[in-house]
Amino acid sequence: MHIIRLDNDTDFEGWRKAARRLALNGVKPADVTWTVRGGTELSAASGVDDLPDAPHAFNVPATFVELTKAAILHRNGERFALLYRLLWRLRSHHDLAGDSDIAEANAMARAVYRDMDRMIAQVRFREIGRERNAHYVAWFEPEHHVVEAAAPFFANRFADMPWSILTPDLCAHWDGHAVSITSGIDKSEVPNEDRLEEAWRRHTSGLFDPARLKLMEMPQAYWRNLPDDSIIKPLIEDAMRMTSGPFIANKASEPHQPQQPQDRPMARKTTGDSIAALREDAAGCRACPLWKNATQTVFGEGPQTASIMLVGEQPGDKEDLAGKPFVGPAGLMLDRALDEAGIDRGKVYVTNAVKHFKFVPRGKVRLHQKPATPEIRACRQWYERELAAIKPDLVVALGATAAQSVLGKITPINRNRGHLIEHDGTKVLVTVHPSYLLRLPDREAKTLEYQRFVNDLKIAAGWLRRSARAA
Ligand code: URA
Repeated sequence: MHIIRLDNDTDFEGWRKAARRLALNGVKPADVTWTVRGGTELSAASGVDDLPDAPHAFNVPATFVELTKAAILHRNGERFALLYRLLWRLRSHHDLAGDSDIAEANAMARAVYRDMDRMIAQVRFREIGRERNAHYVAWFEPEHHVVEAAAPFFANRFADMPWSILTPDLCAHWDGHAVSITSGIDKSEVPNEDRLEEAWRRHTSGLFDPARLKLMEMPQAYWRNLPDDSIIKPLIEDAMRMTSGPFIANKASEPHQPQQPQDRPMARKTTGDSIAALREDAAGCRACPLWKNATQTVFGEGPQTASIMLVGEQPGDKEDLAGKPFVGPAGLMLDRALDEAGIDRGKVYVTNAVKHFKFVPRGKVRLHQKPATPEIRACRQWYERELAAIKPDLVVALGATAAQSVLGKITPINRNRGHLIEHDGTKVLVTVHPSYLLRLPDREAKTLEYQRFVNDLKIAAGWLRRSARAA
């Protein structure tokens, strides 16, 4: 029997190293017990040190790695063993489709993502100390081991204030430079002075998405941590007045306030929308906090009859000011490549996975920042509605953020480019983002990569020509 003691509950690297060595040495899942240091001590332990370093490796799909990284954060004590069973079957080229373990691992990963979303929506900072000694503290009770994974979101969102998120499992701290993690604490130790009510109220309103409100699903154990009635109630009442759909406000009339419910456009169904109507709705989108610093929503553009839909990452500085996608340097690069591939940009619908510019100010310059997964997810509703309105024959995802949004999961570009992927009844081609080409340091690499990009676009053009002929 091999008894593997992982360093902690979220020790993905420890699991990965041990699982790989066990699998390569042919150790069956039934002969392994997984535990976490500090957990119940087991006698007669034998880890993997007695196993030889296996001579040859084997590869697993990137999607399995992503699934494992998420499912390991679940609180289910059987997760390490379950994931090893899956790895064992993958190693012997077993088809995992329909496998009950894979269904359970997927359910765990989904529960973890939901818990991260809940943390983002519910964490409420309170100020302790004053002025230069001010520190912002929040208490949260996670259902799963999500604190470390969610901390970068808060570091990004609240970059200029020192904060601590305290939980019974672990505490995450941000000092303005780096996140650090310490052990969990008891709720009685949490300071409760509250001077951040107003800031927090705005933060919550900005994040609140009525379309995802499912009161009955929230375990009662968390109700006591919900925001005050005075804040949450009006939000819930507004949500109930809407049938479904995004949280929309009219930015032009009230820059920092949600619209009154009676002024808010009713949510639309996902078919039958015109792009013009969607653009109007999206102008007041508050589904994530990015709208606060951006100049405007940059919605997609192009004919509603387009057979190709190009999806980029997010508007850049120029796009944010112009209100149009791909009009800056990346846009010029894209236009040139489309032209060379024989695709007329005027006939293509061009949009972005995230519709607000995310940046950090550096003096007079606004430095582009990559959108985070919650922002990509919050904005996906617009992509879905554009897709339903345009019904393109082909979607081209430009870069990793676009691929994540279009395919609904993190998708490595190099391994997936060069061929069409079928996703939910839509043909998808993934390729690099044009700004990747702009960033390449040397001329030779630039020329080579540009040609590969054009070749990818030619695959799109060729496929469209063939399918038009066949039709
Ligand atoms: N990069 C993008 O992904 N989209 C734009 O619109 C501009 C730059």
